[in-house]
Amino acid sequence: MPADSLTITDNRTGKQYEVPVTHNTIKSMDLRQIKVKDDDFGLMTYDPALLNTASCISKITYIDGDKGILRYRGYPIEQLAERSNFLETSYLILYGKLPAKAEYDEWVHNIKFHTLIHENIKKFMDGFLYDAHPMGMLIGTVAALSTFYVDAKDVNNPTSRQKQTYRLIGKMPTIAAFAYRHSVGRPYVYPDNNLTYTENFMSMLWKMTEVQYKANPVLAKALDVLFILHADHEQNCSANAMRSVGSSHVDPYSAIAAAAAALYGPLHGGANEAVLRMLDEIGSKEKVPAFVESVKAGKGRLMGFGHRVYKNYDPRAKVIKTLADEVFEVTGRNPKLDIALELERIALEDDYFVKRKLYPNVDFYSGLIYQAMGFPLEMFPVLFSIARTVGWIAQWEEMLLDAEQKIARPRQIYLGEDTRDYVVMSKRK
Ligand code: ACO
Repeated sequence: MPADSLTITDNRTGKQYEVPVTHNTIKSMDLRQIKVKDDDFGLMTYDPALLNTASCISKITYIDGDKGILRYRGYPIEQLAERSNFLETSYLILYGKLPAKAEYDEWVHNIKFHTLIHENIKKFMDGFLYDAHPMGMLIGTVAALSTFYVDAKDVNNPTSRQKQTYRLIGKMPTIAAFAYRHSVGRPYVYPDNNLTYTENFMSMLWKMTEVQYKANPVLAKALDVLFILHADHEQNCSANAMRSVGSSHVDPYSAIAAAAAALYGPLHGGANEAVLRMLDEIGSKEKVPAFVESVKAGKGRLMGFGHRVYKNYDPRAKVIKTLADEVFEVTGRNPKLDIALELERIALEDDYFVKRKLYPNVDFYSGLIYQAMGFPLEMFPVLFSIARTVGWIAQWEEMLLDAEQKIARPRQIYLGEDTRDYVVMSKRK
């Protein structure tokens, strides 16, 4: 019997089965042979919310949630945050290696030359109400891009995929900035290719009548680092949406709209917005203990705390905490920081949170920085989407190139009614 195997005894039949174990995992399909009768469907696994199911083999992002480790293609997030920039990290995530100088220059050039959006998209965005949530605008507009780039349907063509990659990474900040300008009633600012990716985004957001927008270097660097930290996070809810929707071979704009919709929810990318609302609700440092007690009593959650994977301090939250100090030097201290720090202090000492291994996640401090920079709360998930677009594309491409992948189609355990005959309305009780 091979050492790397699992022996299963089916007590219903007394039969034994040997199932290979690879990478500490068994294949669910290897259980299908386990049957009581020949015409049985075979054994399945039940895993709501996919808590213990690997849905793919991936080489992109590594997380050790117990140790608080996050690496893109093997490079620790802390090193990338300190020494790389968002576009270089994007290249790394997508192509698996740090670019050489010529590769980097070409990559940046290609992104920059895909930042403009069709004038009709601008008109389309004008149709949204003045108070439309920018995330709703972003989701709708990205989906609409599929009608402008019909070549994107050719998902099995690497040249087409490459083109959509440039377009998506290039245009996301433009759409995001236009959504913001629309909400504040300011004229749209077109991209400026003489600026860096992040500076250009800031220019499209905040440029007024000056000839060229000059971003504060500390804030531009901070935003760039935040983009790096948010670029990918392996099989989270939105990456899973991207892979699942993309597995039908729909174009990447439609799949990214679905992924962004998944990100919009308060349990995922909407959490930093929810953190700020929570800090507002708490109101002052003195009210923190009472708030923590109410969470423990089951009245809501401590937003920005806890993570499906991290059962330790989220390494991104550590980087962001340091970044916050640098940003507040420029913008002035966000008064809600004191409430957040007190909340963290009390929660990390409290048995309820310690026992459940609930630590601050990436969203706990990022919102404070965004707010200090001048972003309205509604823009937080939009910022997340700009960065995560890179991860979504990388996960999508990996899925498409994986010969073991097929259209995502889980099974169910049907416990509903057995067959019954239709009853005409007049005879129903
Ligand atoms: N506040 C209070 N209690 C919590 C919290 C929280 N933030 N998170 C989890 N718990 C408790 C649960 O009530 C549960 O307690 P129980 O065992 O007594 O029932 C236990 O901890 C385990 O929680 P689950 O919900 O099973 O954990 P899960 O892995 O499903 O959830 C999640 C992870 C969704 C992130 C959760 O921790 C949460 O809701 N956090 C707040 C929202 C948030 O910050 N989301 C951002 C995540 S990061 C990102 O998506 C970018």
